[in-house]
Amino acid sequence: MGIHYRSTGAFLSFMSLLFVSTIPSQYCCATDTLTQAQQIFVGQTLISFRQIFELGFFSPRNSGKLYVGMWYKNISVHRVVWVANRENPLKAVDSASSLTIGKDGNLNLLDGTRHTVWSTNVSFQSNSSFAVLSDNGDFILKDNVSGVIMWESFNYPCDTFLPGMMIGTNTKTGEKRYLSSWKTEEDPSPGKFVGALTTDTPPQAFIWNGSNSHWRGGPWDGWKFIGIPDTKQGYANGFNLLPDNQKGSAYLTFNTYNISYVTFVVLTPLGSLKIMNWDEEIKNWYVKWVAPENPCDFYGVCGPFGVCNKKKAPICDCLKGFVPKSTEDWSKGNWTGGCVRRTELLCQKNITSLALGKAKNDGFWKLNAMKLPDHFEYLYNEDSSSCQKWCLRNCSCVAYAHVAGIGCMVWAGGLMDVQQFSFAGDDLFVRLAHSELGKDTKKAKLIVSFTTISAVFVLATFVCGLYWRRANKRGKRPNRLRDFVLGDIMDNSRDTLQETASRDQVIHGESSELPTFCFNKIVVATDNFSITNKLGEGGFGPVYKGKLEDGTEVAVKRLSSHSGQGSEEFRNEVILISKLQHRNLVRLLGCCIEGEEMLLIYEYMTNRSLDTFLFDAKKRVQLDWAKRFHIILGIARGLLYLHRDSCLRVIHRDLKASNILLDDHMNPKISDFGLARTFRLTQELAKTHRVVGTFGYMSPEYAMGGLFSEKSDVFSFGVLLLEIVSGMRNTILHYHEKYANLLGYAWQLWNEKKALDLMDEALAESPSQSDVMRCIHIGLLCIQDHVVDRPTMSAVVVMLSSGADLPLPKQPTSTMQTVLDSDLRSQHNDVYSVNEASVSVIVGR
Ligand SMILES: *[C@@H]1O[C@H](CO)[C@@H](O)[C@H](O)[C@H]1NC(C)=O
Ligand SMILES: *[C@@H]1O[C@H](CO)[C@@H](O)[C@H](O)[C@H]1NC(C)=O
Ligand SMILES: *[C@@H]1O[C@H](CO)[C@@H](O)[C@H](O)[C@H]1NC(C)=O
Ligand SMILES: *[C@@H]1O[C@H](CO)[C@@H](O)[C@H](O)[C@H]1NC(C)=O
Ligand SMILES: *[C@@H]1O[C@H](CO)[C@@H](O)[C@H](O)[C@H]1NC(C)=O
Ligand SMILES: *[C@@H]1O[C@H](CO)[C@@H](O)[C@H](O)[C@H]1NC(C)=O
Ligand SMILES: *[C@@H]1O[C@H](CO)[C@@H](O)[C@H](O)[C@H]1NC(C)=O
Ligand SMILES: *[C@@H]1O[C@H](CO)[C@@H](O)[C@H](O)[C@H]1NC(C)=O
Ligand SMILES: *[C@@H]1O[C@H](CO)[C@@H](O)[C@H](O)[C@H]1NC(C)=O
Repeated sequence: MGIHYRSTGAFLSFMSLLFVSTIPSQYCCATDTLTQAQQIFVGQTLISFRQIFELGFFSPRNSGKLYVGMWYKNISVHRVVWVANRENPLKAVDSASSLTIGKDGNLNLLDGTRHTVWSTNVSFQSNSSFAVLSDNGDFILKDNVSGVIMWESFNYPCDTFLPGMMIGTNTKTGEKRYLSSWKTEEDPSPGKFVGALTTDTPPQAFIWNGSNSHWRGGPWDGWKFIGIPDTKQGYANGFNLLPDNQKGSAYLTFNTYNISYVTFVVLTPLGSLKIMNWDEEIKNWYVKWVAPENPCDFYGVCGPFGVCNKKKAPICDCLKGFVPKSTEDWSKGNWTGGCVRRTELLCQKNITSLALGKAKNDGFWKLNAMKLPDHFEYLYNEDSSSCQKWCLRNCSCVAYAHVAGIGCMVWAGGLMDVQQFSFAGDDLFVRLAHSELGKDTKKAKLIVSFTTISAVFVLATFVCGLYWRRANKRGKRPNRLRDFVLGDIMDNSRDTLQETASRDQVIHGESSELPTFCFNKIVVATDNFSITNKLGEGGFGPVYKGKLEDGTEVAVKRLSSHSGQGSEEFRNEVILISKLQHRNLVRLLGCCIEGEEMLLIYEYMTNRSLDTFLFDAKKRVQLDWAKRFHIILGIARGLLYLHRDSCLRVIHRDLKASNILLDDHMNPKISDFGLARTFRLTQELAKTHRVVGTFGYMSPEYAMGGLFSEKSDVFSFGVLLLEIVSGMRNTILHYHEKYANLLGYAWQLWNEKKALDLMDEALAESPSQSDVMRCIHIGLLCIQDHVVDRPTMSAVVVMLSSGADLPLPKQPTSTMQTVLDSDLRSQHNDVYSVNEASVSVIVGR
């Protein structure tokens, strides 16, 4: 195949019509491959196989300069996405310039005098290389003998991030791939702005203006940059970060869910990062997302300890307990000086030990929905309370945050680039002197939410009781109606709930049976919620140990009065758990609602939770194989009950080691139903926009697309099973280990036929190897990517208790942190097309 020639005269006249003009070529005879025998001259192009991209010479309007670049072939508004010689332009009049492959196999751009102005310049010598333009916009130089890719344009991005590219750094090789803006719309040479990932752990998205910080997207939490509040939940936003701890690298990828969407990310000459989409109807590009977007988005507008809120005027304010460094500058609207602490911290004071005894210790002020500050330090594997303790112990620690998917972050020095979001964002705890920690003034709000919750509580338990009773009376009756009504409770807003419930009340008029406890008794039982009785933090508040008058030990879960969020989960838990009874589920003994207090009283589990054993170097030894297997089987049975056998059909959604409680006989009991959902008989997959749950236990379809089904629980069960066998946590962002996570590691060992290496070393006295193998095998079956490949819980229970042959597991690619969005797309096509505004959607078969 030859390369098509066309006249330069036509090219010149065409050029002046376009902003950035390209040199059109005819469709006929075009090829996507350049071989050693060939050259591309001005006016000739390479065209990718499916006619998506085109590569050739172009000349921006009035520039007098000539470049080799790549653009979309079939899109009427030209967009150059890549430029080879952006730093070494040719003269536009130099029509004898050509792109060719040299004797050493490199791609060379030659001017009219055969002088090389640009080269791929790779040391790999090849006498048979060729270059091919692929349909995703990658220009690849390959050695035809070995098949080695010598060079590819994707590794040298300009201002455009195309789907399939990777941007990031490799600390070992020193490689840095970043976006660099054009100087102006007509000048492709590198401008002032650079968009890249930082080398922080976890990495942050960043734009620099020269050497100044310009915009910050915040650290990556496993599915998004947490400083970008409008990121679509899950991986639906198309971005994914692939950390490779072994290689010391982290790369950001960008994918489209639908290959027919033409989309790219660009860093403009004015420093805006934009996601652009092509709209075939209006035949133009439109901006899908842009940053920085509002005045608060510019890095550090309010200076250290300042906080920016775009909805306020002026936008800058000092954090609580801080005052402007210079009131004069501040009043003039020059906020860059920031704020300073009003009251010295106790730990900073030089006071005698006598006075110290009387002084009240520093504390933390909680700020909701924040863009967390820059310059954080990441503490590995600390839970929220140890994160707080660590910060309190170290006087240079001025703030901390515990973020799902990241863990503990602490700050020393000035808190830079803090923003108040109106939604999303994270909780930031700022250290203040005791006297600065005033009383919370949110009482009014709390009372409102309390009233709603209690109304919901009464009505909901009533409905629950009603249907349960009726089911008991009549024996078998179609589940559909019951599931329908309860499903509505779970899915709809409070108004609808009250409506549904009160309608039923009028018709049937019955009431709930859940025992209630008197608040004073609970106060006595828990020694006034003393810290020594605190067992931990549950889904929506602290959990205390208590002893009732009759000597019964109980666990008391207290809805923390500061959390508005928890009310939803409280309601959920009450509705669900009061109706569920199984020996592998924790039992709710009663509840207590008095004044602002909302408490749930559970049976007390002497051995606390599974994670306290499994991940504790000393205590894990107590879990021999027989106990572990007993626990695995118990969890499986509990889940099976939830999915199939209970009067409701429930998806737990937050199954993890810390939610498995152990009684004095080491019987496992599933707890924490704050996130659970009922589902209907006809409902296979549901979708939610609030993807909640715990990293490392979330199935890919749920984490990426917000789709959940009983098979999401099966996935979590598989993770839990592998954790129990190995005694290791499946931490997704396990920056300090060789493997990204346990699942990847397990698969690798399995593949190398060394699966038994996964077994916990604490299981010294070798259990039956075939039993351990079987458990690993079942675990791998449960964590498969595709919902259909995973067994149901009833199948799992059978597999665990029989010796029948098991199917071979497929490689869990999602756990290797690769987004297989095309698979997702084809599988759940119908789900992606549902109305995005509703919270939960029913999907028929
Ligand atoms: C190019 O675009 C036109 C409409 O703009 C469309 O009809 C045609 O199918 C496209 N061709 C390719 C190869 O995508
Ligand atoms: C090619 O690379 C060598 C070193 O690897 C460097 O000295 C030379 O300047 C480079 N040439 C071009 C044209 O970039
Ligand atoms: C290419 O180089 C290899 C050795 O590097 C040699 O064996 C081969 O004959 C060469 N081929 C051509 C076409 O020059
Ligand atoms: C690669 O080598 C094969 C066999 O030597 C040859 O047929 C083919 O044309 C070569 N491809 C290119 C792109 O040079
Ligand atoms: C970039 O930095 C320069 C100074 O280095 C400043 O003049 C310019 O306004 C900045 N651009 C933007 C868009 O902030
Ligand atoms: C991709 O998008 C096109 C155009 O919007 C649509 O016709 C097609 O059905 C989509 N394909 C998938 C798999 O979603
Ligand atoms: C703003 O205040 C800082 C000191 O806080 C000063 O260095 C800077 O020049 C001021 N900028 C303007 C525009 O006044
Ligand atoms: C603390 O105060 C004592 C006297 O009150 C003084 O001797 C000492 O140097 C002070 N220490 C510091 C670190 O300022
Ligand atoms: C206190 O915090 C600072 C800043 O995070 C850190 O450099 C220092 O090592 C910490 N000190 C101790 C004793 O942990």
